[in-house]
Amino acid sequence: MRRAICPGSFDPVTNGHLDIIGRASALYDELVVGVLINASKNYVFDVAERIELLRASTAKYENVTIHSFDGLLVDYCRSNDINVIVKGLRAVSDFDYELQMSQMNHGLSGVETLFMPTNPLYSFLSSSMVKEIARYGGDISPHVPASVRQALADRLS
Ligand code: PNS
Repeated sequence: MRRAICPGSFDPVTNGHLDIIGRASALYDELVVGVLINASKNYVFDVAERIELLRASTAKYENVTIHSFDGLLVDYCRSNDINVIVKGLRAVSDFDYELQMSQMNHGLSGVETLFMPTNPLYSFLSSSMVKEIARYGGDISPHVPASVRQALADRLS
């Protein structure tokens, strides 16, 4: 069984995340979307809400499951028999940090990281930017699923 993970904060999931999740799900038998629980971070959506928004927007992928994790990603991978981490790269600016993380994760555990270039449509997109636009009443409909747009409108209004 080839099992991979797409980890992230997903606060909230964007169309950029969904592009990577959809394409990665075609490469593996099972793709886990790992939602980070980090008590020291201020999220707009709690972990249950982030998971629910991801579930609603990935329902069409039969081999995708959504789970939360805390602590080290590599420990979660080891406990769940996952040996590949899939990360989207939007631009060269993502690369430095992602390279460091992938090397650290490999050194810690041997888990591999696969970098997948994002669709250029989403190369400028981030959850933070979407939240900022939504906060000031801008149109985020091209960037997130309808359920996320509604959830942000409810939360930030
Ligand atoms: O969506 P994000 O916030 O950019 O995702 C970052 C994430 C969750 C992939 C990264 O912070 C992570 O793996 N955190 C878990 C803690 C961990 O393993 N840290 C060591 C990385 S070398």
